[in-house]
Amino acid sequence: MTGVADELADLRAKGLDRIAAAATIDELRAAEAELWGRKSQLATVQRSIGGLDPDARKARGQQINEARQRLLAVADARRAELEEIERQARLQAERMDLTEVVPPPRPQRGHYNLVNQARDELEDVFVAMGFVVEEGPIVETDWNNFEALNIPKAHPARSGFDTLYLNLGEPESVLIRPHTSPVQIRVMQRQKPPIYAVMPGRVYRKDTPDARHNPDFTQIEGLVVDRGITFGDLAGTVEAFTIAYFGPDIHSRLRPASFPFTEPSAEYEITCPICRGSGCRTCSGTGWIELGGCGMVHPNVFRAVGIDPEEFTGFAFGFGVDRLAQVRNTISDMRMIFDNDIRFLRQF
Ligand code: DAH
Repeated sequence: MTGVADELADLRAKGLDRIAAAATIDELRAAEAELWGRKSQLATVQRSIGGLDPDARKARGQQINEARQRLLAVADARRAELEEIERQARLQAERMDLTEVVPPPRPQRGHYNLVNQARDELEDVFVAMGFVVEEGPIVETDWNNFEALNIPKAHPARSGFDTLYLNLGEPESVLIRPHTSPVQIRVMQRQKPPIYAVMPGRVYRKDTPDARHNPDFTQIEGLVVDRGITFGDLAGTVEAFTIAYFGPDIHSRLRPASFPFTEPSAEYEITCPICRGSGCRTCSGTGWIELGGCGMVHPNVFRAVGIDPEEFTGFAFGFGVDRLAQVRNTISDMRMIFDNDIRFLRQF
């Protein structure tokens, strides 16, 4: 009798140790089989009471049952513990690290250079305002580029264009265009008013590259010719364009200037997008950035293309597309746009 009680007590103690030592659910399962499975010590003790008389068997049976219940309860508690540990381990393993920067998949496709993107966008803005898009050639005649634009041979404005001439025909009669204004002449020769056109294109000057200049750049010319067009139409169009391209916080202003092909003439300026008008280094403390020229088409220009200046009036403008893109994207040095450093270009 004592022998069996001791054996049970020993079995219980060892069983509790065994359960506590199980480090995984699998180990616990193995311990359970060993402790109360068919081949276990407990089963053997149970079998041994078969030959006892009913009272003794009942008493033993109770002891055995108590021992089993105790072990079962401890094993259940251990199982719950192990399940929680394993769940935590799994969560830890599967946890997403939200601090990690996962770069978006980049299609390895090229795209338009920033300047051509800007040109397309500018065309869209003006097309939405009712303009058509026209083009002219890069190699121009002196007449289209200067004479018809009211810049005769001896005019001092000629020197301002740093024009590149070609060795073709009479000296200085064929050139690489230094501005897109000659396309105005071509459009007016081709078409009678009303005219609402923008003319983007590349232009070239004998210039030294710096942070704001490049000898090869892009302009967008604008021309409106109709009955009753006023300077107010010019100012309104330029302001509508500014808001459409730069956003509602950026505004335009026109300051007196001088161009041979417009009268009156103005410089087109916008709120400095870097300081938003309060004054900074980029805008030399003025709060404004100059982006091009504009004005009312000079009567001599109309006469050159056979449009009656008494019947029609109009306005014109010419903006630097590179400058517009540079200013909108706050790029400090224009040369970066053309350096072809893929790390820079990829941003756009
Ligand atoms: N063609 C001028 C230039 O390149 C810019 C310009 C000024 C164009 C006034 C215009 C204008 O159409 O009206 O410097």
